[in-house]
Amino acid sequence: MGSKYRVVPQLLDVISGLEPRRVLDAFSGSGVVSYALKANGVEVVANDFLNFAATIARATTENSEARLSEDQIGAMTSSRLDDRDFVRSTFAGLYFPPDDLAFIDGAWSHIDGMVGYERDIAISSLCLAASRKQPRGVFTVTDGRYDDGRRAMHTPLAVLFAEAAREYNATVFDNGRASRVTCGDVFSIDPDGCDVVYLDPPYAPPRDDNDYIKRYHFLEGLATYWRGQEILHNTMTKKIRKRPTPFGSKRTIRDALRRTFERFNEQALVLSYSTNSVPDETEIVALLKEARRDVVCYAVPHRYHFGTHSAATRRQANELIFVASR
Ligand SMILES: C[S@@+](CC[C@H](N)C(=O)[O-])C[C@H]1O[C@@H](n2cnc3c(N)ncnc32)[C@H](O)[C@@H]1O
Repeated sequence: MGSKYRVVPQLLDVISGLEPRRVLDAFSGSGVVSYALKANGVEVVANDFLNFAATIARATTENSEARLSEDQIGAMTSSRLDDRDFVRSTFAGLYFPPDDLAFIDGAWSHIDGMVGYERDIAISSLCLAASRKQPRGVFTVTDGRYDDGRRAMHTPLAVLFAEAAREYNATVFDNGRASRVTCGDVFSIDPDGCDVVYLDPPYAPPRDDNDYIKRYHFLEGLATYWRGQEILHNTMTKKIRKRPTPFGSKRTIRDALRRTFERFNEQALVLSYSTNSVPDETEIVALLKEARRDVVCYAVPHRYHFGTHSAATRRQANELIFVASR
């Protein structure tokens, strides 16, 4: 959701044009923009306040050499180091069949003994496998109602995990620079040494608030084995408590954007925006002009997938990239 995968080439063009030494990707999400910048030789600081997002960025952008060995992948998919059953019992009857839930417990019995980037790749692979198996990759539905016959929905999670681990292994490379990742609120990032800040906050849609936890709670739980997360046991989906963010609500986003532009006062700003969000385009320009003298807008035609039903409708939205500098 909200991944900038399709507009990466345009973003790279715009950001490279600023000739940055170090770029802060303050809302890194899937990590695709950070990774693409790394692939272009840039040093990156990636940040997201969700653990699963920060873990993926560590595995792919910060990590420049560690991989999971075939022995490790084999052990994780065929054995368990203890008889824990937290996932199997907590999520019984939800999302995945019992064997898959038991596999997650077993996989975590190995992950608990792992450190560093190998651990990050293992967790990222679990998250990717789970999101590939789950209909539309979002955890708002708990059963197979949306079975669209995709192979992933009928493949054991352990097999999807092994595939994902090999794919993550293949992303690992060294661009000669020391990129790093933080996991925290945007207002706690230290931007020192960064000359460009890329901002892709979770804008609220016009008639709703933007709640990532509602859709991705299972991945955030999976990335932490639900440690430090409060499961709301009275919810059908067994979601975790929402992480409040002022960017997800129409009431608070303007002030949040204003404070963000101030916080990164020393840096040039590159802001992603799609035209069907709140606040609208003219307000965004006004907010940017409060903070920077020079504001330029690039328009990228972009297709979004809309709708919460199987017959999702498509509509054309315009993806904008604002560049604001002194
Ligand atoms: C639109 S997504 C970013 C997508 C990303 N550019 C990509 O291409 O995948 C917004 C991200 O902001 C994160 N986020 C929301 N509020 C935040 C906050 N206050 N501080 C840090 N991250 C936040 C969310 O977890 C989400 O991953």
